[in-house]
Amino acid sequence: MVKEAAAFWNGIAKHYAASPIKDIASYEFTLQRTRSYLRPQDKVLEIGAGTRSTALLLASSVAHITATDLSAEMIKIGQAKATQQGVHNIDFLVDGAMAEAVSGLYDVLLAHNLFHLLDDLPGVLKRANELLKAGGLLISKTPCKPQGLGPASYRLMQVVLPIMQLLGKAPFVAMRSSAELERLMKEQGFQMIESWNSGKDIRRYIVARNTAGKPESNRQSAQGNTGKPQDAPIPPSPHSSP
Ligand SMILES: C[S@@+](CC[C@H](N)C(=O)[O-])C[C@H]1O[C@@H](n2cnc3c(N)ncnc32)[C@H](O)[C@@H]1O
Repeated sequence: MVKEAAAFWNGIAKHYAASPIKDIASYEFTLQRTRSYLRPQDKVLEIGAGTRSTALLLASSVAHITATDLSAEMIKIGQAKATQQGVHNIDFLVDGAMAEAVSGLYDVLLAHNLFHLLDDLPGVLKRANELLKAGGLLISKTPCKPQGLGPASYRLMQVVLPIMQLLGKAPFVAMRSSAELERLMKEQGFQMIESWNSGKDIRRYIVARNTAGKPESNRQSAQGNTGKPQDAPIPPSPHSSP
């Protein structure tokens, strides 16, 4: 399964890197939200990072990013982009979502457009919990089952996806509702900070704090109330909760 996924993503890496972001306003808003949580001293792990566009844009806001992906081709493209842009604080690693090749503790774990591609999401969330410092943040954006029928693009995808999968032209996908995604995170000791969809976008943006089994120490008490969004009410935004 992992081998098949790697082969699939290796096969489309060049195309993926060349395709434009569909909703740039939404992407930038999310990026801004994510940036508002980051501190210059933060050590960040991004899993399923793809061709590193997000890591490259966030690199100047943190001390270091370890960007991983199952696909060696995605990693290769990301590495070339970093070299070209003179970004030196990102390490690149071929690694699955279980993050077996990394160790140590991180302040923030990023997972964008990845959780719906995983069969063992609870296992990955458990691992995320282990890798995050107490009070560390999990920040994710994940396509979720919409309430009701959902937008036309989602309904079309429901019809086309099984055929594409049979032909080897689409990866494994496990769509969960946003409620289920939140439940799985809470079960692993994550506390929701913000969770929303932008308009009709089926992707759920979630920021959650790691609390399970660890003393409330570093991030919160060392910092006190930073005045950052994790300590304050979420500001008004162009979002609606479905
Ligand atoms: C839809 S792309 C998202 C890339 C990037 N995070 C973004 O938002 O643009 C999914 C990425 O997850 C990677 N991926 C798929 N299954 C994975 C797994 N089990 N472990 C790690 N990465 C995986 C793919 O290689 C691909 O780069």
